[in-house]
Amino acid sequence: MDLNVNGVPVSTDSDPDAPAVELLRDGLGLTGTKLACGNGVCGACTVLIDGAPGASCLLPTAHLEGRSVTTVEGLDGAHPVQRAFAAHDAMQCGYCTPGFVVEAAAFVDRWRAEHGDVDPGRAAVATAMAGHLCRCGAYEGIYAAVRAACA
Ligand code: FES
Repeated sequence: MDLNVNGVPVSTDSDPDAPAVELLRDGLGLTGTKLACGNGVCGACTVLIDGAPGASCLLPTAHLEGRSVTTVEGLDGAHPVQRAFAAHDAMQCGYCTPGFVVEAAAFVDRWRAEHGDVDPGRAAVATAMAGHLCRCGAYEGIYAAVRAACA
């Protein structure tokens, strides 16, 4: 099976029925993508697939055939949302952070393309991040960071 991960062509004979998160973490060593609930409800395993955020814990690896996957490593620390997370101290333990950052990067890019450098407001950001759980409750810092990265 062939795919592209963070801009690099990858060929793999991984189990096509195994969750994609296993290929990313165990097969490719991209451990920024976290596995928490394993049930598609917490968002920790979020990656971009052809630019759209999705949970990699329930997605069979076979579904990545021919697709482009971006993990948090692929953002390379250079996305505005990553700098905003650092500036706003938008984390506590950090386990959920990669999933939030990947989701937020897609949201910020989409928002800025559609609206320009405009603060989306707390409600829009909270809605966009609704698929992510932070057990530490660092939501206010996370929302502030995403709003700052948009504006
Ligand atoms: Fe995939 Fe929680 S580990 S959504």
